[in-house]
Amino acid sequence: MDLKSLIRDIPDFPKPGILFRDITTLLRDAAGLRHAIDSLADKLDGAGLNAEYIVGIESRGFIIGAALAYKLGIGFIPVRKPGKLPSLVHSVEYELEYGMDKLEVHQDALQPGSRVLIVDDLIATGGTACATAKLVQQIGCELVGFGFVVELQDLAGRQNLPDVPIVTLVEY
Ligand code: PRP
Ligand code: HPA
Repeated sequence: MDLKSLIRDIPDFPKPGILFRDITTLLRDAAGLRHAIDSLADKLDGAGLNAEYIVGIESRGFIIGAALAYKLGIGFIPVRKPGKLPSLVHSVEYELEYGMDKLEVHQDALQPGSRVLIVDDLIATGGTACATAKLVQQIGCELVGFGFVVELQDLAGRQNLPDVPIVTLVEY
């Protein structure tokens, strides 16, 4: 199945000059959504990562990450933007193009040694995934890999990630 044909290009979003790869059109297509999750799960299985948990990044990473966790039969842990999680959190700050942002995870969600697979819908600069990797490594987890539906290769985001397997489905 041609997943690229289900991903829509929106020029000048969110800013002039940016060509936004919109996966909502893939998500609404029943066969496309199933194919995307099954294919990513197969590739991750093939990589033999033996993850115990998927850590999914707010918000589109929740959609892909939770479906993948269900398919792989492992737990799902949300990494959220600040102030959203109700219990005690670990947090990491990271740099955006202008200014800083923060991501949080519940303190009791992960333990040192937990085998973690980080999942998001898309990798662009890699800043978000890199910050999430720092967050889980700070806790002492074993980061076993990354999974993304879409990779924007021009932005070379994978070069910012730790040296673990990176599984992607659609590349631009
Ligand atoms: C998008 C995307 C990734 C991140 C990728 O999320 O879902 O999380 O940006 O960019 P990067 O590799 O340059 O860090 P966004 O912040 O737009 O949040 P959303 O999922 O809530 O729309
Ligand atoms: N599509 C979706 N999310 C994104 C993109 C994009 O092209 N670039 C950065 N985050």
